[in-house]
Amino acid sequence: MRTLFASFLAALLLLPGTATAQKADLAQTPPMGWNSWNHYGCSIDEALIHQTADALVKSGLRDAGYVYVNLDDCWQLSRDAHGDIQADAQKFPSGMKALGDYLHSRGLKFGLYTDAGEKTCGGRPGSQGHEFQDAAQYAAWGIDYVKVDWCNTGSGAAERNPREAYGTMSRAIAASGRPMVLSICEWGDHQPWLWGREYGHLWRTTGDITNCWDCIVNHGGWFSSGVLSILDRQDALRAYAGPGGWNDPDMLEVGNLPTAAENRSHFAMWTMLAAPLIVGTDVEAMTPAIRDLLANRRLIAIDQDSLGIPAMKWITVPGLDYWAKPLADGRWAIALLNRGDSPRAARLDWATADLNDGLKNRQADFKKTRFRLTDVWTGQAAGTTATPLERTIGPHDTLVFTLDPA
Ligand code: GLA
Repeated sequence: MRTLFASFLAALLLLPGTATAQKADLAQTPPMGWNSWNHYGCSIDEALIHQTADALVKSGLRDAGYVYVNLDDCWQLSRDAHGDIQADAQKFPSGMKALGDYLHSRGLKFGLYTDAGEKTCGGRPGSQGHEFQDAAQYAAWGIDYVKVDWCNTGSGAAERNPREAYGTMSRAIAASGRPMVLSICEWGDHQPWLWGREYGHLWRTTGDITNCWDCIVNHGGWFSSGVLSILDRQDALRAYAGPGGWNDPDMLEVGNLPTAAENRSHFAMWTMLAAPLIVGTDVEAMTPAIRDLLANRRLIAIDQDSLGIPAMKWITVPGLDYWAKPLADGRWAIALLNRGDSPRAARLDWATADLNDGLKNRQADFKKTRFRLTDVWTGQAAGTTATPLERTIGPHDTLVFTLDPA
């Protein structure tokens, strides 16, 4: 009887797509934290992670919600004779368990990177064929978040099936007994928004971000994109994100972009998208302005709103985007984004404005309900919908307002 039951259970675990292995309650709102890749690439070590963790605490960013400290590629070096994954002992002399203890004792959570192929993008050992062994090891180290990349997974007919790959890692995490956020990073190649929620908590929608406003960089075979290019690919995917599973337009370049306006706009728009907010800058050396931007509690509240509805592109005129995001309790956030290189005048006449999110069935009727506006940059009252909103927006800058039914 027991063996029958055991084989029934085993069969259940092997079926792709059965019984969602991931706990949705790990990501009821988009995950927030820090990741090493955007600023440090492969140059990471224990001292850097300690320093970053301390800076997250000292700067108040941990208390603002940025709790995950995620090591991206290059923490790992090899497998031992048993196939167990080994951290780079020169870079992480105290080992991963000690690093996890360091983070947990400071109220932070611990994330690691791996890959669904045999090797990572950086040529380190990937998890293919070692998923259960790796997840068990992660659990023993106290890992809370795993990002699984898609390099070296084969191509054409020989490409690994992404549902099989992420399903296997998802079941491996479940079998480890430790809850972990699973971040699906196959760059949007196989429409992960259609299936990612079954296995993970967030899925990349595009290739890598890079720290420019509007560029596409050719790396010879693969491309990275700036803020606008990634933003422009998100509106069509808004149906798929929500509590438990999120579109991931990639980690933040806030602090790495050349101008204050671009850093502001990038952060504001990622909060409007209900994107995971994973900081990718040098937290110890960031300027007070970047710290204040990342800690802006009005923007964080827009991102973390309990409805979990990504903003829709509401009105577009050449060079100027108006986005709108329904919030809980009949509130809204609106963002006015100047894409261009010179100042722009923007005008919204509420008497004729039609704010209707048909996809999510949310409407604001400005004839019936008057809303109070709050400027998220200053926290100051910014009038009501009784009179038109008229503003000039600087180049590459964004104005964001929350609307509260008066
Ligand atoms: C890919 C991912 C990045 C980063 C690097 C690491 O490019 O998309 O986010 O993890 O690999 O090698």
